[in-house]
Amino acid sequence: MRLADKVAIVTGGASGIGRAIARLFAREGAKVVIGDLTEAVREGGAPTAQVIAGDGGTARFRICDVARKADVDALVAAAVAEFGRLDIMVNNAATLGAGTGLLETTEQDWDHVMAVNAKGVFLGCQAAVRQFLTQPVVDEARGRIVNISSQHGMVAAPGKIAYGTGKAAVVYLTRQIAVDHAKDHIICNAVAPGRILTGKPLGGPGSDPLEYSRMRTPMPRLGRPDDVARAALFLASAEATYVTGHNLMVDGGWMAY
Ligand SMILES: NC(=O)c1ccc[n+]([C@@H]2O[C@H](COP(=O)([O-])OP(=O)(O)OC[C@H]3O[C@@H](n4cnc5c(N)ncnc54)[C@H](O)[C@@H]3O)[C@@H](O)[C@H]2O)c1
Repeated sequence: MRLADKVAIVTGGASGIGRAIARLFAREGAKVVIGDLTEAVREGGAPTAQVIAGDGGTARFRICDVARKADVDALVAAAVAEFGRLDIMVNNAATLGAGTGLLETTEQDWDHVMAVNAKGVFLGCQAAVRQFLTQPVVDEARGRIVNISSQHGMVAAPGKIAYGTGKAAVVYLTRQIAVDHAKDHIICNAVAPGRILTGKPLGGPGSDPLEYSRMRTPMPRLGRPDDVARAALFLASAEATYVTGHNLMVDGGWMAY
């Protein structure tokens, strides 16, 4: 129970990596509040909060668009109102947008991707830090942030200019918040997944949509949501107390190549 009695928010926790993080944190004893646009699970299955409750854990779901300040503030307020404090904020929600290059990307798509992937993380960090500053230090921390970045914030995301730029902002935000609030005992890190298999299984005839990712990944398999969840757990736990401002790659070696 590495998160016994901790209170954690996971944005985008309905599906994929966020779902794996929410489930692992709950198994480790955290009370988990999931904020997402929908409870529907992209890869299929019962809603995350329901699955956690079925496993004997504690979880709540709340509709939240991370691009909207009022939603994010209300998410944090709801977690604190029910569980008394906030220990861990995982800013995981993101969108690929249209997934286009410089010349094809419309102004609307750029604004939408930035609103979710960059502003959404900013709003999540801001609401969490405001709450953390009202709390006493426990286990050498007032609170911990884990932002989900990407290898595509450090190297080009072919054909996904808005997504990659938004993810680069997440890495920068993580460092700045870590430095600015170190004195407050607030710990802020990121996890940078490589290619993780989420969403509906790909397949069928035609070219392999995962070919580029397989070619870029030295390890002989692509990532699983639990690979990322375990790294997030480490950064959210007391084991990582002197680690801050770090962007931990969970990418099968993608960025070492
Ligand atoms: N899967 C990968 O290969 C990969 C690689 C690198 C980084 N990442 C990052 O990991 C994180 C999770 O990715 P995933 O593959 O699990 O994605 P996913 O699409 O499977 O799940 C994303 C979740 O976020 C939610 N969401 C989207 N926009 C939202 C908004 N505005 N407000 C609240 N919730 C919103 C969705 O409803 C969904 O439940 C993202 O930050 C993504 O950029 C994923």
